[in-house]
Amino acid sequence: MEKWKSLYIYFISGTGNAKASSYWIADEAQKQGLKTSVQQIDRLENIEMPDRESSPLIGFAFPTHGFNAAPIMLRFIAGFPRGMGHDVFLLNTRAGMKLYKIFLPGMSGVALLLPAFILWLKGYRCIGFRPVDLPSNWIWLHPGLRTKVIESIFSRCEKIVRKFTRKILSGEKVYRGLFSIPVDLLISPISLGYYAGGRFFLAKTFIANNKCNNCGICIKECPTSSIKLVNKRPYWRLTCESCMRCLNQCPEKAIESAHGMAIAFWIIFTAVNTEIILLIINTLNISPKSWWWWIISNIISIGGMVLITAVLYYIMHYAMGIKPVRYLVRFTSLTTLPFWRRYNYSKEKKYPLSSTKRNTTS
Ligand SMILES: Cc1cc2nc3c(=O)[nH]c(=O)nc-3n(C[C@H](O)[C@H](O)[C@H](O)COP(=O)(O)O)c2cc1C
Repeated sequence: MEKWKSLYIYFISGTGNAKASSYWIADEAQKQGLKTSVQQIDRLENIEMPDRESSPLIGFAFPTHGFNAAPIMLRFIAGFPRGMGHDVFLLNTRAGMKLYKIFLPGMSGVALLLPAFILWLKGYRCIGFRPVDLPSNWIWLHPGLRTKVIESIFSRCEKIVRKFTRKILSGEKVYRGLFSIPVDLLISPISLGYYAGGRFFLAKTFIANNKCNNCGICIKECPTSSIKLVNKRPYWRLTCESCMRCLNQCPEKAIESAHGMAIAFWIIFTAVNTEIILLIINTLNISPKSWWWWIISNIISIGGMVLITAVLYYIMHYAMGIKPVRYLVRFTSLTTLPFWRRYNYSKEKKYPLSSTKRNTTS
């Protein structure tokens, strides 16, 4: 305990899970007399760096996106000042579920390993990392969980996070994230694929429906400033990380994940991509089985997917001005279904997302 005089926590959170975890950690640290600073790294702006003279312990909390740390957190950590043997710990929130009475975990992939490695390269000492299976916010895939289930997952996870913090503060090293390492390494190629291209595809599946009254909340709240007004409608740029904050915070429930449109984009991309790959193979007389062609064809495919999706999304954005197109897009979206609940812990509980750009307590 005497080791550290202050605790700095940096977090990013789409729907409040990593935020709640950060405050639980801060609460435990305060109980033990540490000066505590909790900072949200939205837009990577106005962030106070640790005071090295105050023997800081530094924590990072973030959601798992595509079996990896949220890209904005990776960028933050990559740009973090070099350490001189300072102690750090990591906490990734994952997609927790509950089936009858069984709590089901999410999957980390390289979400802990990669940031821990970067921090080690920067001269930090990682004294602990662990995943926390808070309610899944991946509304693209499934409806939000029921309130009762959310509450039960939360009360379990609060105990886990507090216990983890107490252990860390007592000087114990906790590498709970290593428990699932065989599975995590097995799925790590997917995390690279997602980082290279998957997130750009998902960035282009959001639309604002007729209920949008241009209140601007989504634009103001977006942690990566990825939403702008184009033709008087919100438009999602490629920098969107699909954190789900906009979709879950919109007071009018006007933001949808357009599944039908996404499938159409995918079909068009696959058809065009197959033609291009075949054309290159035939023109240059390439053996499709060679390893180097496998790498190049994947790079072409990911690049093509991003480009084609971005162009189609731009066209669709204007086409949405036409009523039948708007209706077709909306009614082929699963998020319009009445039972497709949104998920936003920040909004419903005690951690209003907009209120804390920086919150320093002592
Ligand atoms: C685009 C996207 C990708 C996700 N990928 C994963 C994943 O690979 N593994 C996992 O366990 N959970 C995944 N999730 C679920 C979130 O990590 C999880 O719900 C997290 O607790 C959300 O935290 P937040 O509310 O702080 O944003 C994903 C969610 C989104 C929106």
